[in-house]
Amino acid sequence: MTRVIAVASGKGGVGKTTITANLGVALSTYGERTIVLDADIAMANLELILGMEGKSVTLHDVLSGHASIEDAIYEGPSGVKVVPAGISLEGLRKIKLDRLEEALVHLVEEADILLIDAPAGLEKDALAAIASSDELILVTTPEVPSISDALKTKIVANKLGVNILGVVVNREQHDKTFLTIDEVETILEVPVIAVIPDDPEVSRAAAFGEPIIIKNPKSATSNAIMQLGADLIGEEYQPIEPDKKNVIAKLVEGLLGRR
Ligand SMILES: Nc1ncnc2c1ncn2[C@@H]1O[C@H](COP(=O)(O)OP(=O)(O)OP(=O)(O)O)[C@@H](O)[C@H]1O
Ligand SMILES: [Mg+2]
Repeated sequence: MTRVIAVASGKGGVGKTTITANLGVALSTYGERTIVLDADIAMANLELILGMEGKSVTLHDVLSGHASIEDAIYEGPSGVKVVPAGISLEGLRKIKLDRLEEALVHLVEEADILLIDAPAGLEKDALAAIASSDELILVTTPEVPSISDALKTKIVANKLGVNILGVVVNREQHDKTFLTIDEVETILEVPVIAVIPDDPEVSRAAAFGEPIIIKNPKSATSNAIMQLGADLIGEEYQPIEPDKKNVIAKLVEGLLGRR
């Protein structure tokens, strides 16, 4: 049976799209037929991170009744299938969210795993994405406002009967101003299933339209995402060791401020 997993947060800008895109690629490399769906119809950017902008048919066209979902599925890196949201404001006015349900029925037939990149907040677009899913990954940064919004999302997901798989703590930093992993687990009462470091390479990769797990597979970030993907499907994953030379070069660069 196809697993429909929403990646949601509450607070905006905490890394949902980054995690959806990279996790989608990771699952695809494990041989899972994976579709990533950009349900952030107002602020789409999944396609940018995957280097797939400018597609002619998007979820906008499907939700406004101008195209069928089959025509909005594109092949992305490592074979992951991608449904871009599209960026037209014109389309936004005509959108009917109940068409999302119909589109999902088709996508579920085509995939082992459907990952839904949910919009921030708890407006009706976010609720539609969460309610359409069976399972949910909560994304938060280790900061109080982000955790507090994640808590609200958790409560709503529970009410909707969506199974919360766990929390991904993104942008972890070893600094006393941030919450620890134990604190995050205690506040949310949900297990932490991955910890992803704060990594400047993430936005650099996004700027190149290439997911970090492809651009920089040996990084701690990429290893954490590959491990998360493996855990979700019960696979073994052997982390890729970074080259010593690379680490030393980065250290020197960092010390000399040439990053
Ligand atoms: N682990 C990380 N380290 C450093 N920067 C990161 C990390 N994860 C995400 N970012 C950066 O944070 C910004 C927001 O990320 P992203 O778009 O994935 O968040 P989002 O939760 O989808 O945002 P929105 O709520 O607007 O949809 C981007 O510039 C991204 O490159
Ligand atoms: Mg996003």
